[in-house]
Amino acid sequence: MGAELRAVAARGVAGVLRGASLSTVLPAMLPRVEPRDRTLLQEMSYGVCRQAVRLEFWLERLLSRPLKAKEHEVHALLLCGLYQLEYMRVPAHAAIAETVEAARLLKRAWAVGLVNGVLRSFQRRRDDLMAEADAIDAVRHACPGWLLNRLRKAWPTRADGVLDAWMQRPPLTLRVNRRQGDVDAYRQQLEAVGLGAENVPGVADALTLSRAVPVERLPGFDQGRVSVQDAGAQLAARLLDVRAGQRVLDVCAAPGGKSGHLLEIADIELCALDNDATRLARVGENLERLRLSARLELADAAEPGGDWYRSDYERILLDAPCSATGVIRRHADIKLLRRNSDIEKLVELQYRILTNVWPRLSAGGTLLYATCSLLPEENADQMIRFIAEQPDAEALPLKVDAAVPAGPGIQILPGTRDMDGFFYALLRKRPVA
Ligand SMILES: C[S@@+](CC[C@H](N)C(=O)[O-])C[C@H]1O[C@@H](n2cnc3c(N)ncnc32)[C@H](O)[C@@H]1O
Repeated sequence: MGAELRAVAARGVAGVLRGASLSTVLPAMLPRVEPRDRTLLQEMSYGVCRQAVRLEFWLERLLSRPLKAKEHEVHALLLCGLYQLEYMRVPAHAAIAETVEAARLLKRAWAVGLVNGVLRSFQRRRDDLMAEADAIDAVRHACPGWLLNRLRKAWPTRADGVLDAWMQRPPLTLRVNRRQGDVDAYRQQLEAVGLGAENVPGVADALTLSRAVPVERLPGFDQGRVSVQDAGAQLAARLLDVRAGQRVLDVCAAPGGKSGHLLEIADIELCALDNDATRLARVGENLERLRLSARLELADAAEPGGDWYRSDYERILLDAPCSATGVIRRHADIKLLRRNSDIEKLVELQYRILTNVWPRLSAGGTLLYATCSLLPEENADQMIRFIAEQPDAEALPLKVDAAVPAGPGIQILPGTRDMDGFFYALLRKRPVA
């Protein structure tokens, strides 16, 4: 691992410091490093985001004066340097020398002495800095203070388990396309190419791989035999209980993970809508790979109008835009990107989408409200408010043994059976008397 790789990692992390997500920044970074270093680049970029609260805490104490706000690359490089010293199995002298050299590659020769000084000072003061960090709840758990407060309030007895789960590396879980063969047959296919996988209890179509591999190594991936999808996310399509011939609306569908699953389960007439054209195009690509199809519509689900609004649907999946606090172990950059003030805005958007979509549900039909959030404001509270205001809405019980009850719905907490965190509530529109 050389200076080049560290410079590229710093550029990626700098993108996050500017407000972009790693999943948008990294694809442009990966081709800049040797293929053999790509896993390491991802590991370092995600690792820095996962530990950012601790790294920032140390950095603040190691700098004699704050960095200029626009020095994102140097800032990110310092975080990468500290991350290597504390969390990667790299000899310290190499970590320091190559990180210093990376400052030159980034054309920040002025920062060479600074990077060297900060990293050497960390080595000397490490034990004290560690003790200071561990004495503060949020820093110990590498969690922004506002998020920790919300989490402890929402899940007083379960917050520590969630905090631990947020620090784990997520597994690679597959969804087997039942139209092309069953789960056991696919597990044998995986074994034949040297890949071990296990079933996930209670999640019919899921197989968790014993180690992550590029999708090209998965037998039949290009032909749609399997998709990559967390097991918690795979519950959605099964809970909606779609049947052949039904008209189904997938609101907020992109990139189409759940759309594909719905179509694998039954011969339905699916309309998938999203307000992001680039992401909606990915729904088309994903369905094409699965050899399935749906009507795709670019529309704002919070507003009436558009073709989708002229039909009624027997089933609606509303996978609402949310804080994504349930998937932090997979997208550690959320800890850096999300702000406390976002939550209120998301709650309002979710409510607007929900009330706009509800009239399109047929009487007797069901709507599954889903988020990958752990916060009651976006989940149970949202459902309680909606049911109180909609005389024709009632919650149906959901039986998922890995879940905990959450108001009218259920919550999967991250880490349970190695799943990401999801909230689900199933609402029925009362049939007309
Ligand atoms: C959680 S993601 C959906 C994931 C998707 N259901 C899947 O399983 O692959 C939320 C989606 O909501 C979309 N979105 C956000 N606001 C929207 C709105 N007002 N109308 C329609 N789609 C919206 C985003 O573009 C994003 O693709």
